[in-house]
Amino acid sequence: MLRPGTPTVHDYMRLRADAGLTPRTEEQSSLALPGSWAGCHVVETASGETVGMGRLIGDGGWYFHVVDMAVLPPHQGRGIGNWVLSWLLDRIRHAAPADAYVSLMADPPGRRLYERSGFTERRDLSIGMAMWLRRVEPGGRG
Ligand SMILES: CC(C)(COP(=O)(O)OP(=O)(O)OC[C@H]1O[C@@H](n2cnc3c(N)ncnc32)[C@H](O)[C@@H]1OP(=O)(O)O)[C@@H](O)C(=O)NCCC(=O)NCCS
Repeated sequence: MLRPGTPTVHDYMRLRADAGLTPRTEEQSSLALPGSWAGCHVVETASGETVGMGRLIGDGGWYFHVVDMAVLPPHQGRGIGNWVLSWLLDRIRHAAPADAYVSLMADPPGRRLYERSGFTERRDLSIGMAMWLRRVEPGGRG
């Protein structure tokens, strides 16, 4: 069953770790989830276990970024990832103004899924760049 809305903080942390994504702290997770523009998760009916998720962050105007696509390994390859991604893209189609720009960073396991949904590499126009920033403690120097 696909449920609109992000999973709980606990399930989010578990899904990220168990799907092989870098684990995130409870502080990061509990701040991240309410900052989503949209999200959904998939619950296995028989067990009640959350087995997949995905979410969108963005400004609600035209920039949207797909993040946290994850399906537990025993449930991969059954179309759950495609279901989640299709739901997220439909949210944009129905709730965002025309001409939304949707981006993502594609790790190898997701590339085929994203390409099938219409994403293409645009290194002809631009390349993704990223960095990690250290927190400056209060009273510390930048
Ligand atoms: C990426 C992921 C969310 C896809 O979910 P899923 O439920 O397995 O995807 P689907 O069953 O809808 O399959 C979609 C396509 O991806 C392919 N695919 C699924 N798992 C894959 C894997 N581990 N490696 C390569 N391709 C994979 C499928 O073959 C399918 O393509 P096809 O129908 O043309 O054969 C899932 O594999 C996952 O959680 N991976 C680990 C976490 C991760 O890397 N997330 C992506 C971060 S960008």
